[in-house]
Amino acid sequence: MKEKLIVALDVPNRDQALKLVDMLRDEVGAFKIGMQLYNSEGPDIVKDIQTLGGKVFVDLKFHDIPNTVAQTSKIITQRGAFMFTVHAGGGFKMMQTSAEAARERAAEFGIAKPMVIAVTVLTSISQQVFEEEMGIKKKIVDQVVEWSKLAQKAGLDGVVASPQELPYIREACGKDFAIVTPGVRPVWAAVNDQERIMTPKQAVENGASYLVVGRPITTHAKPAEAARMIVEEIAAAECK
Ligand code: C5P
Repeated sequence: MKEKLIVALDVPNRDQALKLVDMLRDEVGAFKIGMQLYNSEGPDIVKDIQTLGGKVFVDLKFHDIPNTVAQTSKIITQRGAFMFTVHAGGGFKMMQTSAEAARERAAEFGIAKPMVIAVTVLTSISQQVFEEEMGIKKKIVDQVVEWSKLAQKAGLDGVVASPQELPYIREACGKDFAIVTPGVRPVWAAVNDQERIMTPKQAVENGASYLVVGRPITTHAKPAEAARMIVEEIAAAECK
């Protein structure tokens, strides 16, 4: 069950990141690095984490013309990422060429293809901003489901989605489509700045394939213990 747990390494530098990887590599499935850590330490941070035995989710949310995203997808693939993200808003062709590029490069190198995951509507976007600033006159959840189906048709492996969107995507895209869910808070952890949260148990029961958890683990006095408690909760939900 630990494979379902991804730790968000939202820390400013390599030392702090690798300390956490060292403590957590046997307790969790993968480590997510975002633009803060990637840009402060450079791409070698991926290798550093892998050398310590961690799988890496490169969360850089690519969004550009199809060729640029495809070429970048090849590079991320040959770095041995376990998972990476592109924006669904980049369109069908961009997503499709990204997935194809990952498949091709993985075959060329004889390595596992990374999971290519679409980001749909960022959870920081409100319904009002969605309609007035982005000009999309639809309910956010409807757009999220539509983009999830588009991502699936483009050959992507899954989407990132908030806990509230889980049941709708699972219903629309079936059981084999991966749903990666942040905004997860065990009952014993602080909510921080997250809103509309779910516990690990609720998220798994609602169809999450992977849970992204940051601060409840990384700021815990005993990060490995925090991770173990979450994995136990996931296991209990799976057994139901
Ligand atoms: O510390 P916390 O558990 O809140 O970290 C959640 C992680 O998931 C962060 O890296 C955050 O950027 C990411 N995330 C999120 N909500 C989204 C998309 C990504 O919290 N909608």
